[in-house]
Amino acid sequence: MSHSLELIRRLQSPTGAYPASPTFSAYRGYSWLRDGAFIAEGVSRHGDLAGADAFHTWCARVIGDRAGQVDSLVARAGRGEAVPPAQMLPTRFTLDGADGTDDWWDFQLDGYGTWLWALREHAFRHGRAVPGVEKGVRAATRYLTAFWHLPCYDWWEEHVEQRHVATLGAVHAGLRAAIGLGLLSPAESEAAAAAVDGITGLVAAEGVAGPAPGAGHLTKWLGTDAVDASLLACVEPFGLYAADHPVGVATVAEVEWQLAADGGVHRYLADTFYGGGRWVLLAGFLGWNHARAGNRAEALRHLDWMAAQATPEGDLPEQVSGVLLAPDRLREWQERWGPVATPLLWSHGMYLILADELEVR
Ligand code: BGC
Repeated sequence: MSHSLELIRRLQSPTGAYPASPTFSAYRGYSWLRDGAFIAEGVSRHGDLAGADAFHTWCARVIGDRAGQVDSLVARAGRGEAVPPAQMLPTRFTLDGADGTDDWWDFQLDGYGTWLWALREHAFRHGRAVPGVEKGVRAATRYLTAFWHLPCYDWWEEHVEQRHVATLGAVHAGLRAAIGLGLLSPAESEAAAAAVDGITGLVAAEGVAGPAPGAGHLTKWLGTDAVDASLLACVEPFGLYAADHPVGVATVAEVEWQLAADGGVHRYLADTFYGGGRWVLLAGFLGWNHARAGNRAEALRHLDWMAAQATPEGDLPEQVSGVLLAPDRLREWQERWGPVATPLLWSHGMYLILADELEVR
């Protein structure tokens, strides 16, 4: 625990950004909204208010600086223009808040929603507003309200042609959070609430697979029956379906049945990235869901598994390669990008969240 907290603090940029992984070739120098939001949630739960404040202030600045771009995208879409994914806001930023010059799978909506969600959690947990975030919150809200229905890359930066249920869950939570923060204009708030209702209806109609319409488990994207471990977040923490709703229960059960192995969790069955190993941060999401459902022993098992994946220095990797879904695909990624990203700050953030849920200090 103290190592995770210390590592995140030490690696946080003076700008407030959290690097995804300081040394990994493909991530070095970049901060993701998705990773950072969960990292900030972890440190907020363990008393690093200054660190979480600095991250949220950085996000608000970076997104607020792009308010003009958002408004021009929204206006173009309003005139019926199809805006190409490459012109949307980026998925990741350099630590000083620029778009960066390396190519990336750059149209992902979930991070903007997850940031709003984490900001609200942090503010409400500590009973005080983070100053100076209004412009960024409002720009992110207008962006998500206008574009939530578009296909985009998912949590794993894949399948830009699909509408991913975990992305819709993040946007749903983010827009509810933005409304709850009380910083929107009445018109923005009303439009955000309509988008929330739109997401609820669309997922119920096309994002649930099972025995009868609207019953069963959430699906990886609209119109499939496959699952993805990112769906865990749609239950806890995003609350698209409550943990005791039959769809929430069925989603956690289906992900666990298909993708969990001895405490660790694969992303999805067809995963080939680094051979498709088990992800430390996904064990955190499964544990978090078990903790909220009252299954303390199960949740602790995932926390212990996460801790057991640390290097001798205490660093947590992105994934571990002991059990692989596609073993013959490991080498090509090692040759392309080097060893698995270690430390991955999001893994440490999830460890902090689950430890806090279980009151392990
Ligand atoms: C993962 C993303 C993550 C990024 C940075 C990628 O390999 O697919 O989910 O945000 O790494 O950690």
